Amino acid sequence: MKRPTPAPAQSCLCIFSTTSHESTSLMTTDDIASKKDYIRQRIKGLDKALLPLGDPAGKDVLVFGCGQGNEILWSARRGARSVLGIDLGNPIHAPLAELMAEEGFGDFCYAMHECNVHDLALDHPGRYDLIVSNGVFEHVSDLKGVLNAMRPLLRPGGRIAIYADGLWFSAIGGHLGKTNWEHLWMAPHEIKEQFPERWHAYISNLNRMTAVDFLQALRDVGALVLQFNVRSDPYLRNAAPLMEAIRARQQVSPTDMSITSVGCEICFLEHL
Ligand SMILES: C[S@@+](CC[C@H](N)C(=O)[O-])C[C@H]1O[C@@H](n2cnc3c(N)ncnc32)[C@H](O)[C@@H]1O
Repeated sequence: MKRPTPAPAQSCLCIFSTTSHESTSLMTTDDIASKKDYIRQRIKGLDKALLPLGDPAGKDVLVFGCGQGNEILWSARRGARSVLGIDLGNPIHAPLAELMAEEGFGDFCYAMHECNVHDLALDHPGRYDLIVSNGVFEHVSDLKGVLNAMRPLLRPGGRIAIYADGLWFSAIGGHLGKTNWEHLWMAPHEIKEQFPERWHAYISNLNRMTAVDFLQALRDVGALVLQFNVRSDPYLRNAAPLMEAIRARQQVSPTDMSITSVGCEICFLEHL
């Protein structure tokens, strides 16, 4: 029988004062092991996706949408001074804490909190050198509100590195994971039947933004764009035979279908 593993004590909370919720006390060792595997897997892409947009070395880092804490461990490996991860979901601490300890970051200054970026902006003005976000902005419903909330969190010289992957009109944009563009050519009731476990995320957690929508949001909030990259959809060659079925359901721009991710480094005038 699997025994619940008690949550390990959290690492140094030196500069962080928001309340954390510990929800790991009922996790089994198998649960923790599988979350640790997930974190290890997700970290693999970060050097390619995030590092060119923002280097954590020597910085106080805020991770927006930290999930299980992948970017926290990555930032520690990359020499950050401290890291706070925030997420709207209730973060689970034990898997990350074990990995941090195993990799020699047991005393590293980090924390993970269930927290809204708007509230954090009130409590932590000018606290961060770098805000990183990976795989989150394609879920955010209020792009401009979030970008505006990030602004006062940065110190002079501060930067924001954002990588958003699986944009809605790309082949994997439905986050369903079966075949290319199924979210555009299948009827919603078919999606609900075939992906019951993904239905909630599909219907309510994807913002359907295009690369142009994202750039427009940056423009609307007056962000300075230091880098802006798009990645072409690797499945584009499979699109042509699907166009008739997609167009029978909706009008789509082939341009939007051709972009799977956006990455950017931004700041605001006062951070220069
Ligand atoms: C696909 S997960 C990515 C998590 C992690 N960055 C990773 O790469 O594994 C998206 C995360 O963004 C969080 N999220 C979505 N909107 C958010 C918001 N407005 N503020 C904070 N977190 C948000 C979700 O709760 C979820 O944990």
